[in-house]
Amino acid sequence: MPDEVLAPNIELFSRNGFAGPNTTIVRAQYRPRFLRARGEYLPRRFHTWDLPAQVFAEPKALPVTILEGEGIGLELNRRAAAMSFGYVNVWADELHYIVSGRGQLDTEVGTLEVRTGDFVLIPRAVTYRWGEIAEEINEFIVVTTSELRLDPEGAPATFNPDLHLDRPVPHGRPGLPVDDEYEVVVRTGDRFTSYFYDVDPIPCLDVIGAPLVVRFNIENVQGLAVAEGGLAPAQLMSSTSGRDFIFGVGSRHSARPPVHHNADFDEVICYGMGPSPWGSVDTPGTVTWTPKGILHQGPEENVQPGYRAWLLETRSSLTMTPAGRDIAYLMETDRYGVHPAEGQPATAR
Ligand SMILES: [Fe+2]
Repeated sequence: MPDEVLAPNIELFSRNGFAGPNTTIVRAQYRPRFLRARGEYLPRRFHTWDLPAQVFAEPKALPVTILEGEGIGLELNRRAAAMSFGYVNVWADELHYIVSGRGQLDTEVGTLEVRTGDFVLIPRAVTYRWGEIAEEINEFIVVTTSELRLDPEGAPATFNPDLHLDRPVPHGRPGLPVDDEYEVVVRTGDRFTSYFYDVDPIPCLDVIGAPLVVRFNIENVQGLAVAEGGLAPAQLMSSTSGRDFIFGVGSRHSARPPVHHNADFDEVICYGMGPSPWGSVDTPGTVTWTPKGILHQGPEENVQPGYRAWLLETRSSLTMTPAGRDIAYLMETDRYGVHPAEGQPATAR
């Protein structure tokens, strides 16, 4: 047995996430390393690039849900070409994270040129479509029935909205008549209704007042640097229900996080970009999921030259969809690698 296994380990037991109260447990044995598991309630890694191309082959293909819970869904989307229809989610807000690619996101309040590392917050009831795609778009989308809003803790040091937040550029032209019909797909939960128009309904002449759709890049999200460990990541967004939070968790100068019991939140981390790996995670679009109450540590964050990642915490208890299961691997909760027991018959997938 390696010496480190019996060195004192600091475990943090948190109620209500980073808001506390917290209890610190000192324990000799290192518990995140389980040998194997039987059953369904397991930490996973999703290799989102593994989702087969044919899932998105249909020109009318819509995003695919991989994890879902009450009031929240986590979805994948891939776009190689422009959409010939509009899409509007009227019951939920959508946070799009661009894992890779470059293209035009065209919304009813204007057009955004998006690129790798962009977050785009599209509030419910805003119609949009993908326009010209310069490089295939791969995105990971958080869909919440509660309002999701930018709420950066420690601003402007952690994120400066005055410098790094922007909005779509209005089209400044009318929507033109179409030869046939223009379809807009209206989503209500998991149901879809199509409306048809004789003009392109999306372009606008101008937009005045508060921004509706906002965009910023993960490169402009900074962690809170501390000499000693223990400081929680900086919150970036929250939902009005208090059930969902987004944090920037890229590399930062701090001690390795303690072993963690997160009693009230599922943790989903999306690794955005290197150059450094984060423990056993080194591919953009790797999504790790630790269900609430499952002991975990997670890799060292203090790595040079660094990496970019973000964390979703939700009070909802997530479960995998069949599409999620197809790209999921059992995860160990020390370095967040694929668990050595992955694929063994006693381990449920
Ligand atoms: Fe944690």
